[in-house]
Amino acid sequence: MTGRYKKLEEEKVFKDPVHRYIHVRDELIWKLVGTKEFQRLRRVRQLGTTYVTFHGAEHTRFNHSLGVYEIMRRMVENIEEKEDWDPEERLVCLSAALLHDVGHGPFSHSFEKVFHTDHEHWTREIILGKTQINAVLKGMGEGFPKKVADVIAKTYSNKLVVSLISSQIDADRMDYLQRDAFYTGVSYGHFDMERILRVMRPTEEQAVFKISGMHAVEDYIMSRYQMYWQVYFHPVTRSAEVILSKILHRAKHLYEKGYTFKEKPRHFDSLFAGSITLEDYLKLDESVIMYYFQAWQEEADSILKDLCDRFMDRRLFKYVECDPSTQMNIWPELLQLFKEAEIDPRYYLVIDSSSDLPYDFYRPGEEEERLPIHLLMPNGDLRELSRESDVVEAISGKKRTDHKLYFPKDFLEDYSKHGDIKKRIQTLLMTQGG
Ligand code: NI
Repeated sequence: MTGRYKKLEEEKVFKDPVHRYIHVRDELIWKLVGTKEFQRLRRVRQLGTTYVTFHGAEHTRFNHSLGVYEIMRRMVENIEEKEDWDPEERLVCLSAALLHDVGHGPFSHSFEKVFHTDHEHWTREIILGKTQINAVLKGMGEGFPKKVADVIAKTYSNKLVVSLISSQIDADRMDYLQRDAFYTGVSYGHFDMERILRVMRPTEEQAVFKISGMHAVEDYIMSRYQMYWQVYFHPVTRSAEVILSKILHRAKHLYEKGYTFKEKPRHFDSLFAGSITLEDYLKLDESVIMYYFQAWQEEADSILKDLCDRFMDRRLFKYVECDPSTQMNIWPELLQLFKEAEIDPRYYLVIDSSSDLPYDFYRPGEEEERLPIHLLMPNGDLRELSRESDVVEAISGKKRTDHKLYFPKDFLEDYSKHGDIKKRIQTLLMTQGG
């Protein structure tokens, strides 16, 4: 093929520990990988602070993005075997898969909460703004970047395409579950993706799965369920994340108070001022953040210094389980005692909550309408997954939430100052831990 749909003279491959090889045949994809905005993803970890818990979890958004592209490439290949596809639609799919996470910043999860930014907004900006990615996409036609952005924003007219990249069973999840399992070394997260891809059938609205592949789909749902609680919400990872966000809060607070930093956070200037541009945003990656955290270990502000020491040296907060309904009774007393012990509760006493809904059937009108997974019966009928699968039914629509109270146990065990108060705090926390 020539012109806009140009193929490379020779196929390129990336060696990948999860999918073995990632195949690139389209010139467009090869060029996108080479852009500086895409290369930046090498400096953003896929799992944020998870590496403090699972030391193998150093893989990046770059690895994951290539993986999602590869799964999408295979999905598209399967679909093309069954029906004719517009060659442009195929490239929209592949580009969206490759670029779906391109707007992620460093330690996205905490970063977005502290600075009220949102990676989806930046993804759109990167695709539509003045970037190398935009220039490459425009080579396919003026309207092409918008199509790619719309797929990622789930507003694209072709619902099948949207569902391949974001639904309850999509290329994104299929990659991150396997990839995160591989790099963390846990035994959850594995499922038979080959089988799922083989039984997948396109419909106008979404991809459906032949009933003969139901157990592979069940396995996928269960692996997601287990990965959330065993890896993504691991309390030690969350402790590091709590500290990370407190560092960012403290730095912002000091900046606003006019504190003189020894290491002036010039990369954060526009962010702190609430006027960050795309150009500034693209300069932020995890190596920059880590640079400041290390430098701030020398700061005169004792809170900023202590929090950075904790993050760099992995001296994390401990936690107790807490039930917010009873927690509220002791909360005012706890705050008061922390102040008396001269430990600032704004930085050292944190309730953190996680919740997950492993799979949901369709509930029209609810806050988050999720398209359910459908099975294709031999007679051509479609059946919703939880109606056929007892395993999936057992966890369907069940949201599990968990709350933990984080605090610096080492501070409370240093009795050289305010010993009595600290002992009272410990007793109070102990009754929570139950
Ligand atoms: Ni992703």
